[in-house]
Amino acid sequence: MPAPETIIRLEPGAVVLLDQTLLPAQAVERRCGDVETLIAAIRALAVRGAPLLGVAGAMGVALAAARAEEGDGWRARVEADAARIAAARPTAVNLAVGVAAGLAAADGRWDDPSAVRDATAERARAFHAEEVERCRLIGAHGAALFGPGARICTICNAGALATGGYGTALGVVRRLHEDGAAPFVWVPETRPLLQGARLTAYELGQAGVDHRVLPDGALAGLFREGLVDGVVVGADRIAANGDTANKVGTYGLAVLAHHHGVPFHVAAPRTTIDPGMPDGAAIPIEERPREEVAGPAPGTVPATSPVRNPAFDVTPAALIDAIIVEDGVLRAPFAFGA
Ligand code: MRU
Repeated sequence: MPAPETIIRLEPGAVVLLDQTLLPAQAVERRCGDVETLIAAIRALAVRGAPLLGVAGAMGVALAAARAEEGDGWRARVEADAARIAAARPTAVNLAVGVAAGLAAADGRWDDPSAVRDATAERARAFHAEEVERCRLIGAHGAALFGPGARICTICNAGALATGGYGTALGVVRRLHEDGAAPFVWVPETRPLLQGARLTAYELGQAGVDHRVLPDGALAGLFREGLVDGVVVGADRIAANGDTANKVGTYGLAVLAHHHGVPFHVAAPRTTIDPGMPDGAAIPIEERPREEVAGPAPGTVPATSPVRNPAFDVTPAALIDAIIVEDGVLRAPFAFGA
């Protein structure tokens, strides 16, 4: 597993992250020495995955505190930077949760910039460690849902890379592998940005977990042939009623699982639950640029054809058998209070 501090870390005056746009071909660190560079890295998906975005948000507050010019309006400048970081991507609630955790560390200290810098840095590093620990617990709870040799389907990347260490959906797989249960994983490519083919396959290969990458369109056939024992996916935001936003294609996977009588599980830390959203209809879904689908090269999609590129979709709670969180396995009906 990539070590947590190689995925993201806070250095004095910089957030340093593994650039996930270049994996698996190259493992290159990207140094974000100011808030603008961090926001650009978030938008470009150099740093991505809901829990990791939360860690980036908390570290972003520490970065803002380190970089903001002192003097009149210092607090307002840090808070404005924090608000812009939180808004860099709309769907994963963890980003705003991480920023809020960072800002909370500054409470009662605003008239002492040096104290704010220390407290926000300490909170960001602790937040990272806590998120990794939550993933380990999720892995242990989730592993109990699968038998030896289970053929598990996931989507996108909900592994160490997406969480800062260990993983949620892949944390379950990782724990099964550690326990000697020999899991097998179906890995849909996850177009258009290929988080499955590039990142999940990379992590599973490093861990020595047997897996196959397949085109997204091949999923339905797998289920019809009876080759999937269970599905486990991550989440970007879980509404109060359990409706879950995750990578586009997750809803289709849930419909397939339901149709074929295959259990469908969501694995996520409680930092991904947004009790303020009554149901999935309220969750903002990010629209990504045309180029990700149509390509920068001419001839991929006719220039006259408009493109739609939603990064996420919402799976209704009715299609979810269990939500695996750090304190256990929750079953329907789901009800997350504020
Ligand atoms: O657009 P991305 O790559 O940030 O999307 C990531 C996902 O959809 C993950 O499944 C989700 O964030 C959970 S990560 C543990």
